Amino acid sequence: MGRMDGIRGDAPQEPNPLRRLTPDLLRRRTSMKWRTYAPDVLPLWVAEMDVPLAGPVARALTRAVEIGDTGYAHGPDYAEALASFARERWGWEADPARAALVPDVMLGVVEVLKLVTGPGDAVVVNPPVYPPFFLFVRHMDRRIVEAPLDDEHRVDLAVLEDAFRSATAGGRRAAYLLCSPHNPTGTVHTAEELAAVAALAERYGVRVIADEIHAPLVSPGVRFTPYLSVPGAGRGFSLMSASKGWNLAGAKAALALAGPDAAAELAALPEEVAHGMSHLGFIAHTAAFAEAGPWLDALLAGLAENAALLADLLGERLPGVRYRPGEATFFAWLDCRALGLGEDPAARFLQRGRVAVNPGPDFSTGGAGHVRFNLATSPELVAEGVRRMATALG
Ligand SMILES: Cc1ncc(COP(=O)(O)O)c(C=O)c1O
Repeated sequence: MGRMDGIRGDAPQEPNPLRRLTPDLLRRRTSMKWRTYAPDVLPLWVAEMDVPLAGPVARALTRAVEIGDTGYAHGPDYAEALASFARERWGWEADPARAALVPDVMLGVVEVLKLVTGPGDAVVVNPPVYPPFFLFVRHMDRRIVEAPLDDEHRVDLAVLEDAFRSATAGGRRAAYLLCSPHNPTGTVHTAEELAAVAALAERYGVRVIADEIHAPLVSPGVRFTPYLSVPGAGRGFSLMSASKGWNLAGAKAALALAGPDAAAELAALPEEVAHGMSHLGFIAHTAAFAEAGPWLDALLAGLAENAALLADLLGERLPGVRYRPGEATFFAWLDCRALGLGEDPAARFLQRGRVAVNPGPDFSTGGAGHVRFNLATSPELVAEGVRRMATALG
């Protein structure tokens, strides 16, 4: 409600959530980030955040537990909460009537791909990009066609056109899995770029599926444009969720949205798809979008501080690493090629520095010699991460 009352433009009312949890407490967590590696490894890799739950989300979950509200999800609340968040933050009217509940974003991508492509058809992606794009697409017998980002980490329309031409050769159906904002580079595609993408996709009959899971995580002052808001995107789809913005990956619930000309296709999604979603997830994600805007603003301010800190520390300790801060996500994409550590510097950082960052080659073309560093932690651990990376060079 605070946001509706005009709090938005004010300084964040919430404390920085990235400064709230100690390493000892984080080590008690049982999820992937803090459990995959040995206890002497500092984990700055998978997309989990070192934050407590936003107050409104914790209260909604507590209320549900208190009254045993753990049955099946029902009703339009999640889609309506997303729609009001989208209206307020992005000035966009998402239509809850063209939304479908899906278990999570990646399974939503899979289900939408099944609606618009068949086995053997191509899916175009922009490497370096989120590794599961490759895994999930290949697992469903679709082919990957790569259209790498350019040197500025932007979508290259000429390269994309070549990819669309190859993907649709022989009259085949094809889809374009757009990562918006882009993981790992933090690129925020502009309205003009997205409109050009939509026009190109229409020309080739390629169906656009925009993974917009990082949309809430756009730096202060940067404008996110929802794909479905641009002219020509009527046959597109979007996948959205509060999973990244509020650290709710373990509380499964996401939304698939259709443009006006894809609504009939989305309506054909089989009923069982929604069954994989968690009602507790639905409650948590709804509370995040509806009530946890001030918490998100405090997080975004903290992430911007961490990005600036990382840039400073790299300049001091590891000047060979090239870091161009992105405009979104909580990742830093670090070009370590000048360090001479080969294809996979993350392996050396892990072995010699005891810090886990994501190996760039997992992101495919453009990933060699790079690592992805997760900034969603305390400034102290950002600094410790850089210290460990520098130690690994010794
Ligand atoms: C671009 C992107 N899509 C999807 C996901 C996973 O989302 P979900 O857990 O809802 O499948 C992530 C997680 O980091 C991501 O970065």
